[in-house]
Amino acid sequence: MERAILCLLITSLALSSCGGHKDGEWISSTGRGHEHEGGHRHKRDLGHEHGHGHRHGHGHERSHGGGHRHGPSNSSIKLFRPNSMFAFRLYKQLVSQAEYQNENVFFSPLSLSVALAALTLGARGETNEELFDGLGFNLSHVTEQGVHEGFRDILQNLNQQEEIDLRAGSALFVSDAFKPNADFLERMNTFYLSDGFTTNFKKTTEAAKIINDYVKTKTNGKISNLVDQLDPGTVMYLVSYIYFKGKWDVPFNPEMTQDGLFKVNETTSVPVKMMARKHTYSLYYDQEISTTVLQLFYTKSVSMMLLLPDKDLAGLEDVVCPEHVAKWHRWTKKRQAMVSIPKLSIETSYSLRNILSEMGMSNIFSYSANFTGIANEPILVSEVVQKATLDVDETGSTASAATGVALMPLSFRPFETITFDRPFMVLISNHETMSILFLGKVVNPAKK
Ligand SMILES: *[C@@H]1O[C@H](CO)[C@@H](O)[C@H](O)[C@H]1NC(C)=O
Ligand SMILES: *[C@@H]1O[C@H](CO)[C@@H](O)[C@H](O)[C@H]1NC(C)=O
Ligand SMILES: *[C@@H]1O[C@H](CO)[C@@H](O)[C@H](O)[C@H]1NC(C)=O
Ligand SMILES: *[C@@H]1O[C@H](CO)[C@@H](O)[C@H](O)[C@H]1NC(C)=O
Repeated sequence: MERAILCLLITSLALSSCGGHKDGEWISSTGRGHEHEGGHRHKRDLGHEHGHGHRHGHGHERSHGGGHRHGPSNSSIKLFRPNSMFAFRLYKQLVSQAEYQNENVFFSPLSLSVALAALTLGARGETNEELFDGLGFNLSHVTEQGVHEGFRDILQNLNQQEEIDLRAGSALFVSDAFKPNADFLERMNTFYLSDGFTTNFKKTTEAAKIINDYVKTKTNGKISNLVDQLDPGTVMYLVSYIYFKGKWDVPFNPEMTQDGLFKVNETTSVPVKMMARKHTYSLYYDQEISTTVLQLFYTKSVSMMLLLPDKDLAGLEDVVCPEHVAKWHRWTKKRQAMVSIPKLSIETSYSLRNILSEMGMSNIFSYSANFTGIANEPILVSEVVQKATLDVDETGSTASAATGVALMPLSFRPFETITFDRPFMVLISNHETMSILFLGKVVNPAKK
């Protein structure tokens, strides 16, 4: 597998719900903000039962309601700027980590935003503020309710896409010994299309398997092992998933695919299968940042953008921002070109605890976490993970991601080992009189 970072953006008008205050043009000027007519909605497989966990009452079939919308709606468009800003901040944070320096990076910002925004439903006080801040929402511009409605519209829109296989949603796995507020569960279902399961986390292997099987089903087998290890102290596990499979509107001819070389850096090249096609493409050369932008469409509203800088990728990573993406959507022009792209099959895995803390979201992991909107019992987030996959071949692409958020009681501390195998102090005191009766230190227990 190539060890270079490929800057790929799977974008969709719906997915990034472009627009915002100033960016409405993104939709209209591309002429691709089409409305489905009488489109059907993919029936979410709500009848699906797991061998072990059983459903909560809140996993009922959701009714379509009257007059559901098809195009990107107002409330989802409001999330475009904050969500895209969050995506690039997360990208920059990831690529700045030493461990990912020579690695492919691929993740779903939306899946993480969805998981964290869902968490805000139960977060109060400072924890709530920090999550909204971290996600890039300024609550003097958009209300909490507006954010949740925006995510609901984004998720509904994704699940309604036609011609491509696209699905996204969330699930809550809840310990039988833990009782979340009914209101929290209800809102998880309404806004984040959440399924609910009761799970015995004391049986860690079985519980992990239940969660992993759920994610595996939702991602069509692409992510089969979201949870490596589950802490027996877990009381709730929140999952958000996204699965995408689309065929290129014009496929590559496999007979044109040839062995080629991919220049990882100045000294190293690796062999790849290069797909090639001469065709009319949507292209743009961004002079300002010396980058060629190629947009490959699956459908009218879903495309992949590939960004190839003239020089090194680091220069592009430093400057790229949502405004560029909006500009490229507007300015790509149809042009004849011979395009070569390597076939890809990438799998990534991220533990996001440190990354989120570095992005200003450390409160959720701390003893001052306030999730009183979930339950009275004090809980905190013990881990946030994301795994993702990307496959690109002549016919199209498949991309998937799942985010997992584990929650534990504040009182739960991992089993510790404490060994007094070095000098220590001792103190004997009487609590009633608060007097220190003896005081000393032990530096060599072998001596009398
Ligand atoms: C949604 O957009 C329409 C037309 O663009 C506008 O009239 C309406 O007020 C908007 N609704 C909300 C809730 O912003
Ligand atoms: C959580 O936040 C709410 C609202 O700000 C506050 O009233 C409550 O005291 C907080 N609880 C804890 C345990 O911090
Ligand atoms: C939120 O918006 C208000 C009003 O536009 C602005 O004064 C404030 O600085 C913003 N807060 C953040 C954190 O950006
Ligand atoms: C080039 O990439 C190879 C393979 O990832 C790596 O071993 C090598 O250290 C890199 N060289 C430089 C100069 O970064």
